[in-house]
Amino acid sequence: MTFLSNLDWRHATKSFDSNKKVSDEDLQKIVKSIQLTPASFGLQPYHVHVISDQVIKEKIKSVSWDQAQVANCSHLLVFSSRLDAEQRIEDYMEIASEGSAEAKQALLPYKEMMQGFLLGEKGKGDFNWATRQAYIALGFAMAACAELEIDSCPIEGSDFAEVDQILDLPPHLLSCVLLPIGYRETEPREKVRFSEEDLFTTLS
Ligand SMILES: Cc1cc2nc3c(=O)[nH]c(=O)nc-3n(C[C@H](O)[C@H](O)[C@H](O)COP(=O)(O)O)c2cc1C
Repeated sequence: MTFLSNLDWRHATKSFDSNKKVSDEDLQKIVKSIQLTPASFGLQPYHVHVISDQVIKEKIKSVSWDQAQVANCSHLLVFSSRLDAEQRIEDYMEIASEGSAEAKQALLPYKEMMQGFLLGEKGKGDFNWATRQAYIALGFAMAACAELEIDSCPIEGSDFAEVDQILDLPPHLLSCVLLPIGYRETEPREKVRFSEEDLFTTLS
């Protein structure tokens, strides 16, 4: 399959066959796709819980409009946005410099730029900025799933304050979107998409 036929094949799966499980090997590839996702400044301000525990999936389903796919999926990915931009910048400096004081020194202008953008007056280091980054990872994960012929369903229909409690998230994490993955139980409905005229303006 090509990238475009993968996108045509995938659909927001409303019901998964709970007997079919995603293999560890495929799960690792999906995790890798999230790890390789680009993010603003490379800060990857998110964390993802990969949940196969049925009790936890059922609890999250009960606060997610009772949507069946949250519990009958093979694995439930919960994306959380990080609110700790200041610490994240410090941690980025460590991994990017690989412990070299010289490399860290060379990265100082970059550090100051990140701090200016995220911690300055505009205060971009907030939930909305981090969530936008998390959604890019969500998109890459869905594309990776489709490549592996694994179904998925992005979900915003959830009470995320409740999800935070169920997962006992630390204060610097706020859950923002769910991605149940697995194998479809029923065939998808027809795609509904706005026209190219509606979506694009070409200036040449
Ligand atoms: C960010 C996001 C949140 C969504 N939330 C839900 C949801 O809570 N429940 C649901 O059944 N579908 C949800 N969807 C699926 C969309 O309704 C679906 O992707 C859209 O109708 C297009 O259909 P398709 O993905 O099957 O092509 C969500 C999609 C996205 C991208």
